[in-house]
Order: sequence, then structure tokens, then C-alpha cells
Amino acid sequence: LTYNLLLNSIQYAPPGTKINITVISEHNNFTIEVCDEGPGFPEKELKNVFKKFFRVNSTNTGGLGLGLSIAKGFVVAHNGNIQVMNSKNKGAKFIIRLPSEKPELHKI
Ligand SMILES: Nc1ncnc2c1ncn2[C@@H]1O[C@H](COP(=O)(O)OP(=O)(O)OP(=O)(O)O)[C@@H](O)[C@H]1O
Ligand SMILES: [Mg+2]
Repeated sequence: LTYNLLLNSIQYAPPGTKINITVISEHNNFTIEVCDEGPGFPEKELKNVFKKFFRVNSTNTGGLGLGLSIAKGFVVAHNGNIQVMNSKNKGAKFIIRLPSEKPELHKI
């Protein structure tokens, strides 16, 4: 999951720029933020980012446009949610919230 997002940041943000990953553990959930300093997304496209085969510009690099829809599928399957936005420094920012598992579920 974070791997898919990181691969994108590495692929789409300029070399040498920072990728910031924050993990916050709260009472019942984890929040993961991945933020890069690349071009971000056109505002109009933000609603389409998690659709299958979505690509901002098919001429840039090879890719199927599946990484983010797979990442979203994973998060949803774990009862979480994922959001995308452009950060203040223009890069892409993803916020993922995942509920932490209840320990009782591991008991058989
Ligand atoms: N961090 C990012 N910064 C800017 N644009 C991004 C970023 N991540 C994704 N994109 C844009 O969103 C599109 C979809 O990303 P996604 O990961 O779903 O597919 P992909 O990287 O094209 O192919 P793959 O299926 O190999 O991951 C990308 O083609 C790119 O245009
Ligand atoms: Mg990708």
C-alpha cells in the first residue's frame, strides 16, 4: 500500500526532492500520510485519481494506471479510507486511515 504510493512519488516527483511519510497511531486507528514535492495532480482530476487506468499524462512514463486503484482497494478491504489532495508545497499528498485490529479477533 504505502509501497505503491512511494513508487509513484519516486516516479513522478523530481529526483532529489523529499518524500515525507508520517504514521500516527491513535486510539482505534492509524493515520498514514505520504507527501511528495512533485507536480501533484490537476485540481479537476483529484476526483478521478483512484479510478482504474487513470493517468494524468499518458506520455510521461510507462504505467498502467492501476497502482492507486489497487491501493484504494486494499484500504477499503481493511475498512479504512484514503484521500488525495495537493499539499501546500504543490506536491501530492495522500492520507490513509486504517482501523487498528481488535486484539480479541486473534483469539480462537
Ligand atoms: N505522487 C504523484 N504525483 C503526481 N502524479 C501522480 C502521483 N502518483 C500518481 N500520479 C499520477 O496518477 C496516475 C495514476 O497512478 P497509478 O499509480 O494508479 O498508475 P501508474 O503509476 O500510472 O501505473 P502503475 O499501475 O504502474 O502504478 C499516474 O499515471 C500519474 O499520472
Ligand atoms: Mg503507480
